[in-house]
Amino acid sequence: MTKPYVFITRKLPDTAIASLTKYAEVKMWPYEDVPVEREFLLSEAKKADAMITMLSDRVDREVMQAGTSLKVVANLAVGFDNIDIASATENGIAVCNTPDVLTDTTADLTFALLLAAARRVVEAAEFVKAGEWKSWSPLLLAGTDVHHKTIGIVGMGKIGQAVAKRAAGFDMNILYHNRSRNEQAEKELGAIYCTFAELLQKSDFVVCLTPLTSETRHLFNRSAFQMMKQSAIFVNAARGAVVDEEALYEALVNGDIAGAGLDVFTREPIDASHPLLKLKNVVALPHIGSASVETRLKMMELCCENVIAVLNGDTPKTLVNKEWMLKKRNV
Ligand code: DGY
Repeated sequence: MTKPYVFITRKLPDTAIASLTKYAEVKMWPYEDVPVEREFLLSEAKKADAMITMLSDRVDREVMQAGTSLKVVANLAVGFDNIDIASATENGIAVCNTPDVLTDTTADLTFALLLAAARRVVEAAEFVKAGEWKSWSPLLLAGTDVHHKTIGIVGMGKIGQAVAKRAAGFDMNILYHNRSRNEQAEKELGAIYCTFAELLQKSDFVVCLTPLTSETRHLFNRSAFQMMKQSAIFVNAARGAVVDEEALYEALVNGDIAGAGLDVFTREPIDASHPLLKLKNVVALPHIGSASVETRLKMMELCCENVIAVLNGDTPKTLVNKEWMLKKRNV
């Protein structure tokens, strides 16, 4: 029997995909640091039974339609805004993501960004390395406290809850806004549900962890930033397009808010000449929320597991488009 054909849009370590190479013929885009070319992706989609994709790949209707034998797209991320889910379902293609395995790692990074922005960690480290440290001074690079302050988490899913747990360890008051109430976070962490406006007005740290959807695009706009405290620090570890970056820049320059910690941007990689990167009160990271070696390997393994499940005719562990169950293609 011929083995199924799987295309992976980035070079991944052989050990992480060992289960898949036993089961299927696997082809990988040969580069780790260079995204797959669009034409290459389309021509592979035409042949593939399954694909493992990255959050930087646009897996749209054209890809789904090209994939006449395609049965599953496993995205190496918890977010799946790069994938046209409706078109996948229409075409009988399962879409899988990698939740759970990255929750704590992403929460750690989110909290690290918050701490770094509050305590000016990056600015201070650059100051030392640049040889600018001439004397200890009482207010040298003094930041703002995190402990006992108020954190407002927008998007209280699993990662939001894990950030709240870390905030509780810092004796912070925890506010949150979400589509639905998170009773566990309320009961176990004392998190208080607020309207979006109330959260913006009361929080010292506003942390964005909401997925990018048509409702959340530019949720953080000029009026949102103007509602925040002038001392507030804004942290985004979700998706860049949840924020109107021009409005954020203005808010930072005009002193409507005090600083920002950003792991994600509307356009990634962000251009080094972007005005946000010129600001001292911005800590910017290259979308590394889940980037610990342990977690990234677990994410790769989970993608392989999901692909094998679908190709075996089983339900994958972390299916995004549940409606696929009624529309799935024969394997
Ligand atoms: C994801 O997996 O969607 C996150 O952005 C990880 O950094």
